[in-house]
Amino acid sequence: MITQQTLIIGANSDIAKAIAIQTQNSSTTGLILISRAFDSTNIDSENTAVNRITIKDYQIESIDKAIKEVAIFAEAPITRVFICNGILHNKNIKPEKRLEEFNTESFNQVMTVNALTPMLWIQQLTPMLTGKTPCKIIAFSARVGSISDNSLGGWYSYRASKAALNMMLKTAAIELARRAKNIKIISFHPGTTDTPLSKPFQGNVPADKLFTCEFVAKQLLDIVEATPVNQTASYLDWQGKSIGW
Ligand SMILES: NC(=O)c1ccc[n+]([C@@H]2O[C@H](COP(=O)([O-])OP(=O)(O)OC[C@H]3O[C@@H](n4cnc5c(N)ncnc54)[C@H](OP(=O)(O)O)[C@@H]3O)[C@@H](O)[C@H]2O)c1
Repeated sequence: MITQQTLIIGANSDIAKAIAIQTQNSSTTGLILISRAFDSTNIDSENTAVNRITIKDYQIESIDKAIKEVAIFAEAPITRVFICNGILHNKNIKPEKRLEEFNTESFNQVMTVNALTPMLWIQQLTPMLTGKTPCKIIAFSARVGSISDNSLGGWYSYRASKAALNMMLKTAAIELARRAKNIKIISFHPGTTDTPLSKPFQGNVPADKLFTCEFVAKQLLDIVEATPVNQTASYLDWQGKSIGW
């Protein structure tokens, strides 16, 4: 019997797929997956405990519409929300190495996907998640979003977007400590993980520092389980160690 639900947003992320597969092993946890497009995963599509919502884009109207569908599927309380969206590069965007490479269009796109989108989900989901049942919201950040850890420079837009995300997560946690004490916010750094996002940048990464999605998903699920609901935001890496904001 399903007693709790896990919601995964940006479910076509390779790390998200690994989280979904590992979550599906629990017979008491239902899965609600939201993505712009679902490609093949090893998710058992016959499994009635898996619900997929295809979203047109991540504009506020589409998010509102998707949340109405989530409400239909969420017959058991949602206890975990993973917000996986993030871009570092695409055919028009390359992370900047020099000031000369910085441009408005790329900055706006990276900020929108990495900082605005997770914030809109948290805003729109909070009424549904507020209550007595503990709920953990995990947003995928990155260590490069740490201002105190920045010794390398570069990647202006990506760094700034993850730093902005972190600030919003921390700020939201302060507000939720007053009005939704059951919600815990975690900003998560997966480490360099073998996905399309990191592919062009894996060259200098030692083999033992390039993680599989399966490993990161396992680490994250253990970390989420072990992290208490304590009315503050946590910024954690794949080992469960705190990162300085
Ligand atoms: N891989 C790494 O080494 C690494 C390191 C540090 C942090 N991270 C973070 O981990 C998270 C997951 O990344 P991943 O490595 O699994 O990447 P991935 O496989 O490339 O997944 C990309 C994710 O971003 C979403 N996305 C892509 N373009 C988008 C757009 N235009 N608008 C809104 N959403 C968009 C996708 O959502 P759909 O399902 O809708 O396609 C999907 O959730 C990201 O936030 C990333 O910044 C990754």
